[in-house]
Amino acid sequence: MSLEALKEQAAIKAVSHIQSGMRVGLGTGSTAKYAILELARKLKEGELTDIVAVATSIDSERLARENGITVLDLDPTPLDIAIDGADEISPSLDLIKGLGAALLREKIVEVQAREFIVIADHTKLVSHLGQKAPVPVEVVQFGIQSTLQRLARFGEPKLREKNGELLITDNGNYIADLRFSHPNPIALEHSLKSTLGVVDTGFFLGMAARAIVAHEDRIEEFSR
Ligand code: 5RP
Repeated sequence: MSLEALKEQAAIKAVSHIQSGMRVGLGTGSTAKYAILELARKLKEGELTDIVAVATSIDSERLARENGITVLDLDPTPLDIAIDGADEISPSLDLIKGLGAALLREKIVEVQAREFIVIADHTKLVSHLGQKAPVPVEVVQFGIQSTLQRLARFGEPKLREKNGELLITDNGNYIADLRFSHPNPIALEHSLKSTLGVVDTGFFLGMAARAIVAHEDRIEEFSR
């Protein structure tokens, strides 16, 4: 089965946790896209009603609206559920997110969900964070070289580019992808968050309540 089909399976399973009347956080990326499309399908076919959503990126907001989902701005009312992909999922359900550059809005939305469900194909499972992926760090544009020098204390930062230009996030910032070997993500997250110029990081520690991971032969579901 293709990875795309596995992503879709995980997404469809996650959307089965949404009930009519819920406020839903919509993730960003190629896996989250399938959840948005499945939610739209269920609304169109009347399997779900009275759903309002909050999106974690301009792209996801556009996709949701184009497919008939009502998207609101985030306000302080809790969300019932949020569904999003990840770049790495550890056995204790800690995550690296943000290879799709939406980490800041994702964190702001998903921290407000009563249940944050992470969805993925099996290639995202790792024994420890940083095994395969760098941690994306959202940084302000001003003084970027100084911020990169500060980040170099923690690993190897590389500014992300897209189409030959520096990538700019929906929030007007850059992303520095940081390769690290630090054994303790909690301590590293703390150090990064106190580094001048850093807005936030792609460490999502203790946030996901449940993972739905599609393997070739089964869908695995686990909670913290
Ligand atoms: C975007 C994200 C994505 O959820 C993450 O990068 C996974 O993306 P994909 O489902 O395309 O592999 O964090 O900021």
